[in-house]
Amino acid sequence: MGTPHHEPQPAIQPPALPAVAGKPLAVWLIPVLQDNYVMVLQRGRRAAVVDPAVAEPVAAALEERGLALEAILHTHHHSDHIGGTPGLLRRWPGAEVIAAAADRERIPLQTRGVAGGDRLQVLDEPVEVIEVPGHTRAHIAYWLPQSGHLFCGDTLFVGGCGRLFEGTPAQMHASLQRLAALPESTRVWCAHEYTEANLRWAAATAPGDGAIARRLQEVLAERAAGRASVPSSVGLERATNLFVRAADAGALGQLRRSKDHWQA
Ligand SMILES: [Fe+2]
Repeated sequence: MGTPHHEPQPAIQPPALPAVAGKPLAVWLIPVLQDNYVMVLQRGRRAAVVDPAVAEPVAAALEERGLALEAILHTHHHSDHIGGTPGLLRRWPGAEVIAAAADRERIPLQTRGVAGGDRLQVLDEPVEVIEVPGHTRAHIAYWLPQSGHLFCGDTLFVGGCGRLFEGTPAQMHASLQRLAALPESTRVWCAHEYTEANLRWAAATAPGDGAIARRLQEVLAERAAGRASVPSSVGLERATNLFVRAADAGALGQLRRSKDHWQA
C-alpha cells in the first residue's frame, strides 16, 4: 500500500500569494527593567522592535521564537528607549535603525532618519511618522494605519502623558490631540507601565468621573492578575485620559504640574 501515483490534479491552481500576504502582523511586548515595555512587531519569522531599553531579554525572546530582527524603531533618545540597540545590532548587524533625523546626535547608529509625515515600510507594513514633541523636542510616534497600531513612546501613556522635559504644555497638548485624532480602535502601545498611578491620580483629580473610576477598577484587576495594561486604545484614552481631554494648553499645563507633585 502507499500513496497512489496518480493523484487527481485540480484543474485550476489557486494563485500563488505574495510571500507575506498570508501572514498577519502580530504585536506583543516584552517587559524589561522596572516598568519599560519593548514592543515586538512580528510577521512570520520576521521581527522589528520599538524602543529596546536593553538587549539581552529582547534578543532572548526573539531567539526563543526563531525570529530574525529586521528593524529597530526609536521614539526618542532617552537611554531606556535606545540602550539595547548596540547589543541587538551585534546579534543582527543588518537591522535598520529608524529614529528622528532631528535627533541624530542623541540617537546614534541610525540607518534611516525620519521626520513627521514620512511614510515607510517595516516588515512590509505601512508606517507613518507623527511628530509629537513635548516629552523631548524630537519625540516621534509610529502609526500603522493598516493594522491599527500606534507606538507612542513616552508621549501618550494609558491614563497619562510624559513629563515635559524639553517641551511646553502647548506642544504636548498639540501632540496628544494629533494622536487622539487617530481612529478610536487604534491600539495604543506606550513604553511604560505607569497606568495604575496615572489613573489613581486621575480618579483623585476628577472624583465624580464614572468613566475614570471604572477604568481604574478594570486596570487594578488586570494588574492584580499579572497582565499588562498596554495596549490601550485611542477611544479609551479619549474617554478616560485627563491630558487628552484637556481643553487647551493651559489646562494641560495645570494637570501636568498636579501630576508631577502628586503622591499616592
Ligand atoms: Fe523618556
